[in-house]
Amino acid sequence: MFSATSLGLSSLLAYLIYITIYRIFFHPLRNVPGPFLARLSKLWLAWHVRKGQSHVHFPKLHARYGPIVRIAPDQVLVCDEDAIRTVYGAATSFTKGDWYRIAGAPDKGWKPAEEVLDMLTETNMEKYRRQRRAIGPAYSIAGLEKHEGLLDAYIDQFVGRLKEFGGKEVDLAEWTHIFALESMSQFTLGKRPGYTEKGSDEGNGDASDALWQCFTVIGIFPGFVKLMHAIPKVGMLLVLPASLLLGVRLPKVWPVFSFSAPTIMQRLKALESTKDVKFPGDRPGLFHEQGESVEPSELQGEGIEETDMLATLMRLHHDKEARFPPSWVLSIALTNFGAGHDTLMFTLSSVIYHTYRSPAILTRLRKDMESQGISKNTKYSEMIQKVPLFLAIMKESMRIWPTLGWYIPRLVPASGATLCDTYLPPGTTVGTNLWASHFAPEVFANPHDFNPERWLSGGSEDKTREIGRMDSMWMGFGGGGRSCPGQHLARFFVVKTLARLVMKCDVEITGEPEIGGWFQCTMKGVDISVKERKTH
Ligand code: HEM
Repeated sequence: MFSATSLGLSSLLAYLIYITIYRIFFHPLRNVPGPFLARLSKLWLAWHVRKGQSHVHFPKLHARYGPIVRIAPDQVLVCDEDAIRTVYGAATSFTKGDWYRIAGAPDKGWKPAEEVLDMLTETNMEKYRRQRRAIGPAYSIAGLEKHEGLLDAYIDQFVGRLKEFGGKEVDLAEWTHIFALESMSQFTLGKRPGYTEKGSDEGNGDASDALWQCFTVIGIFPGFVKLMHAIPKVGMLLVLPASLLLGVRLPKVWPVFSFSAPTIMQRLKALESTKDVKFPGDRPGLFHEQGESVEPSELQGEGIEETDMLATLMRLHHDKEARFPPSWVLSIALTNFGAGHDTLMFTLSSVIYHTYRSPAILTRLRKDMESQGISKNTKYSEMIQKVPLFLAIMKESMRIWPTLGWYIPRLVPASGATLCDTYLPPGTTVGTNLWASHFAPEVFANPHDFNPERWLSGGSEDKTREIGRMDSMWMGFGGGGRSCPGQHLARFFVVKTLARLVMKCDVEITGEPEIGGWFQCTMKGVDISVKERKTH
């Protein structure tokens, strides 16, 4: 017994010595600069990431070590125009890094592959492209404008509610989160949970913060995540000891799913061809209540009226049948809530914060809107065509506060790759932190200034070229073929809300933002007070 234990311990020690020597002196990434301890183990990365300051820490690493930095034995950060084009460009052969495994549904490996729609983690590019094509009509500008009335009506209520506070300070992040959850519910399901009237996001923001803290850190250990997913039903419980050990928060259920999930399930069960749809496996944050079972109604075939986005998705399924299975309808409708609420919270917060803190931009926007006759009834497509400053403000707000605080990990393909004059072997994880790349001074003049006008060419060829260069570094919606499928929706919601606020309200901003740099950034510390606009 004694000798078996000592043999085991000696073997472990020998392995640790071997792996340490290998990683320092012989690993193909040995010449990539970076903190010494990062070469030895991923624990260095986990230790730093758990502080929630990646958006500050990663740019500091670049400032110290240069455009390529080794942040783990097999992971490097890059901040360089050519490297970013190679890794994320439209024709890239780099695939999503193993970190994303933590964000996938635990049971997806046991389901027929065709039924699964989990775009963030999908690795089969052929299937991924088919899914993007299938949902395309619902997420295009024309598709979204079908439900513009739903959004307009909610924005009216939201802005009205803010004005009711009569100038009292309220928390910006909480209210943009209320907006995100409620507008998304109204638009997707034609009804909403009522957070606006209650004046509280009912813990959704906090649940989202907890989930991202936990996922960002645990995702660094994909082997562990694989183990969690391999154990049916109870495997996800392993997240509890792992969170405690790593000192991150335990994930919580997002209250909004207890509203949206049963509503979606009931609607799907009421249609003959979608009634057998199964809910995706339990995962932290996602409520699995499916609601009461309902009798199939006459809501079949031609009877689907596109009253909201879910109805549009159901119509797409009905028209395409096997090419758009019912499980995709459910998953993408849930994605609106999962992927759309905290991203929208953070982006809208940035837009409001920066616009109202930049009097010259606010004045120009109001002037442009007035001269172009923009009113509350103007359609979105007309707004962005007549007043390019809207999208310029949004893009600049997403440059200066990008929603992803972690880095965007991709795997080097089988051919290997040379980035920043450094050869990276196949399987290396490489990625960019947007809080570094969005501030590259050689691409963005005065990068710390909020200057939406940098995105307006005014017809000049030189300026257009400059914007093209900035565009190849700007990844507010991710990169190339894996960019955000919800981006038109995001612009649609943000621009329409900004227009209405600017038309109707004066907003005072107090406090400085405290940003949490997890995969998805979190925010607190800023208050707004909203009053009826004074027109002179
Ligand atoms: C302001 C709002 C939004 C922002 C700022 C945003 C931003 C992003 C970013 C940066 C990515 C790239 C992530 C990565 O490569 O790891 C992404 C991907 C994604 N987004 Fe959004 N998003 C927003 C809203 C939405 C909405 C409303 C949906 C609903 C469909 C959505 C669905 C997705 C999905 C499914 C992906 C994964 C795509 C892929 O991996 O290929 N997003 N988003």
